[in-house]
Amino acid sequence: MTTTAWQAEGTGPNLVVHADNSEFLPTLPDGSFTMIYVDPPFNTGRVQSRRQTTMVRNADGGGDRVGFGGRSYDTIKGALHSYDDAFTDYWQFLEPRLVEAWRLLAGNGTLYLHLDYREVHYAKVMLDAIFGRECFLNEIIWAYDYGARAKNRWPTKHDNILVYVKDPKKYHFDSAEVDREPYMAPGLVTPEKRERGKLPTDVWWHTIVSPTGKEKTGYPTQKPEGLVRRAVAASSREGDWVLDFFAGSGTLGAVAAKLGRRFVCVDANPQAIEVMAARLGHVATVVGPPAAGPVETPVPGKLPLFET
Ligand SMILES: C[S@@+](CC[C@H](N)C(=O)[O-])C[C@H]1O[C@@H](n2cnc3c(N)ncnc32)[C@H](O)[C@@H]1O
Repeated sequence: MTTTAWQAEGTGPNLVVHADNSEFLPTLPDGSFTMIYVDPPFNTGRVQSRRQTTMVRNADGGGDRVGFGGRSYDTIKGALHSYDDAFTDYWQFLEPRLVEAWRLLAGNGTLYLHLDYREVHYAKVMLDAIFGRECFLNEIIWAYDYGARAKNRWPTKHDNILVYVKDPKKYHFDSAEVDREPYMAPGLVTPEKRERGKLPTDVWWHTIVSPTGKEKTGYPTQKPEGLVRRAVAASSREGDWVLDFFAGSGTLGAVAAKLGRRFVCVDANPQAIEVMAARLGHVATVVGPPAAGPVETPVPGKLPLFET
């Protein structure tokens, strides 16, 4: 993609863009967005545990596997090697996109990078290098309580969201716009405080998208609007442009539309575009790579099924 459908200075419509973000992001002008939220695909245990297994014939018959013709084999596992390869690939994939995020943020802008506990520490080091350590604002812990609990370690029930600002002296942050929470010990505060609730900390308790709730689009990695709403409300103002270039089901776009922000949501997966067209088609223009032409808008309500 060499041209952009996005029109600077806020003149164009909200966009849902079907493209590889590495091709689309370079077409956008510097400093265009007040807030960027990205939730990249995780470098999950699935990739890390992929074993490179080879089998070697055991002439004595004492191998751990029996193969064709009753021959005996020893299995040799190269798990560590393939783990390292997957790790390097993942960060080589993410780094240039995070550099683009930095370029695209306005002077008062903020990046929210949503990861899991396995990747967040490497991401912190990388973002310190890209933004500068002084630009690190927060690590938000999204705590949820869903699914089975491991018995052999502390069950992991949280994601991590790293927050970096482009300029620590200029960034926009308005805590007055953020939804408030009930006090843990309401009996210890005045009725006025109890009524108003307290400002959230950097630990956000929030349920996952309910499998039976209205918010569910069917996209497997969909994040709850309540989570993203806090970030958008605090770190942008009405009329500002916000961006998600790993947009999936378009949660950022849905929140942005409700809060009066303008948005660009990018995803490379045609199924994500279908879901976003149905969810956001009434408030955004859906565009595809020039060669493919505009992505067809499906009938609202007729979503593809991606059951998890
Ligand atoms: C974890 S999901 C995002 C979910 C999203 N936050 C939501 O609430 O639905 C990550 C998304 O990144 C998309 N993706 C992966 N590689 C991409 C690339 N190179 N360019 C654009 N999108 C990509 C995937 O198709 C997937 O939809």
